[in-house]
This record gives sequence, structure tokens and C-alpha cells, in this order.
Amino acid sequence: MAERVLITGGAGFIGSALGLHLRAKEKEIWVLDDLSFGRRELAPVDDDRFLRIDIRDKQKVLDGIRRVAPTQVLHLAAIHFIPYCNAHPVEAADININGTIHVLDACAATSSVKQVFVASTAAVYPVAEGPMAEDHPTGPVDIYGITKLAAERIAGEFCLRTGIPTIVGRFFNAFGPSETNPHLIPEVQRQIRSGQRVLRLGNLEPKRDFIHTSDMANAMEALMSAGLRGLEVFNIGRGIEYSVLEIVQAFERQLGEKLTIEVDPARVRKVERMHLLADVAKLKRSTGWAPEWGIDEGVATLLNEPLMEWKGMHA
Ligand SMILES: NC(=O)c1ccc[n+]([C@@H]2O[C@H](COP(=O)([O-])OP(=O)(O)OC[C@H]3O[C@@H](n4cnc5c(N)ncnc54)[C@H](O)[C@@H]3O)[C@@H](O)[C@H]2O)c1
Repeated sequence: MAERVLITGGAGFIGSALGLHLRAKEKEIWVLDDLSFGRRELAPVDDDRFLRIDIRDKQKVLDGIRRVAPTQVLHLAAIHFIPYCNAHPVEAADININGTIHVLDACAATSSVKQVFVASTAAVYPVAEGPMAEDHPTGPVDIYGITKLAAERIAGEFCLRTGIPTIVGRFFNAFGPSETNPHLIPEVQRQIRSGQRVLRLGNLEPKRDFIHTSDMANAMEALMSAGLRGLEVFNIGRGIEYSVLEIVQAFERQLGEKLTIEVDPARVRKVERMHLLADVAKLKRSTGWAPEWGIDEGVATLLNEPLMEWKGMHA
């Protein structure tokens, strides 16, 4: 029998890429999303497999998950734009912590659920240089990372309590089509596509580990198929760091044009880590996964894809 997979946040940037990937593998996909940041048209399911539910609503989450009776649940619904979370800490905690409790409690109460994946983030690591392995001490420096570390702990308690195999995936910086939040790469993409050749950006020095959403989806599927038991934590990144300047240079190569960067003080984040790099040895060792998308191939596709309007409240 095909796995019946429920993706929370499946109308979002990464969740929709995951849905497309799993659908191509003949899995039966269901999506639960409140469409606060995601888009209905991104969720690769028909209306009868789309549950428009806010994960803060405990009863609706329970009823929805019971009705679907999934075998696997991948919990990606969250708010994660760091400036927004810092400005709205109570809302961030309510969605990312309480919402995770509701989703996992509903999984515990639904006997069909055999496996769970919880999306976490590299933002649980402290400010440090060099590649981060999963056993590096945690030390989030923003509200978002704090809420996600709490969600990781809740996933651990869920696994202990229920015995349901649980994977925590610490995502590094995703890039790819249909991005829903104004992160660096879609911002550069938007400015170039609107004709600008002088880009106005925030901090230029920070380096990040950018991984394509297609490679992330592949990694999540590989982890869910690896026969893991208990609670396992994995970094999901590319293992390469790029500075803002190197990202802009990748756009220059694809455009065949020179771009100028101006620092926009309004975009400069007051608290910013300079490095964030994944050690992905555990992921590779456990699954045989290898990334297929480099920055240049990814940027080339972004220059041709339609621009999205930002939907959520990003201020
Ligand atoms: N994009 C990245 O670089 C990145 C990095 C690290 C971790 N993550 C994590 O990956 C996951 C997916 O992120 P994304 O980039 O696809 O973001 P996204 O905003 O595109 O997706 C999140 C989805 O969750 C939905 N959602 C938000 N609040 C909800 C609520 N209260 N009830 C139901 N649905 C709700 C949104 O509508 C959206 O479709 C998140 O858990 C995020 O924390 C993302």
C-alpha cells in the first residue's frame, strides 16, 4: 500500500517542493496549511486532500489528522522569517511551539501514524565558525531559533512517550522556485527581474549554506526511507558556504552583466551571525544522499521563473 503522507506547511516554499517530490514517488499526499504565508496553488493536491487549518487550533488539528489517517506526518508549518519572529515573539511561540505540540499530540492519538518528521533549523546553533555537526551544543540567538529548539525538545518528548520514530531535520538556507519570504536570493532575484542593476541589500559579509529545495526534498524522503528508530537529528544543508557577494556573482554569471551593490541601512539586521555552515556527514552516511543542485544551476532557473508577491506580514 502506498504511504499516505500528510505535510503540514505543504503550501509553503519547502513543503510544496516536498509534496511534488513525494507525489512523483507515487505517495498519497495530503496538505494541512492555513495559507498565512503559503499559497493554495503551490500545494500539489486536489481540494479534497487540502486541509485549511491553523495549527494553533488543537481540536481542528486533531480532527483533521484523524480524518486523514496518515502513515507519515512531515511537520513543516511554522513562521520563520527572523525579523518577523523577533518582532512578534508571542505569535512565533504560539505557532512554532504550541502548534507543534498540537500536531504531535494528534499524531500520538492517531494509530495510523508510524513515522514523524519535524522541520527545525540551523538557527538552533550558536554563533560560531566552521561546519556545525548535530552534536554541536545548541545556542540560538533569535526568537525563531529559540522556538524551533523548543519544538525539537517537544519532538524528543513525543518520541519517548509514543515510541514513534521521529526525525528532526535542521534545515540550512533553502533556495529554489516559489520562495514565500523575502530572503536574500529571492530579493536579489526580484530586484534584477524588475530591471535594477544597482542592488540594494542588507549585510554583505554573512556567509550561508544554501541548499536547493529539490535536494532538501530528496534528503527528507531518503531519511524517511532509511528505517531509522527512536529520535534522530540531521542537518539538511549543502555543506558549502556562500557570501552575499558570491550569490550576487552567481547572478552576474547567469546574466552575463555586472551588478553593483549598495548597502541599504533599512535592510541591515542588528543581530546577524557571520557564518552558518552544515556538516552533512551524518545525512550522507545514513542515506547515501548527495546534493544535485549547485548555486549556478539554481540561479539560472530563478531568472526565468515568475515573481511571487510576498504574502505574509513581514514587518
Ligand atoms: N526557508 C528556509 O531557508 C528555512 C530554513 C530553516 C528552516 N526552515 C523551516 O522549514 C519549514 C518550511 O519553511 P518554508 O521556507 O517553506 O516557509 P513557508 O513560510 O513558505 O512555509 C511555511 C508554511 O506554513 C504555513 N503556516 C504558517 N503558520 C501556520 C499555522 N498557524 N497553521 C498552519 N499553517 C501555517 C504557511 O502558510 C506556509 O505555507 C519551516 O518549519 C521553517 O521553520 C526553513
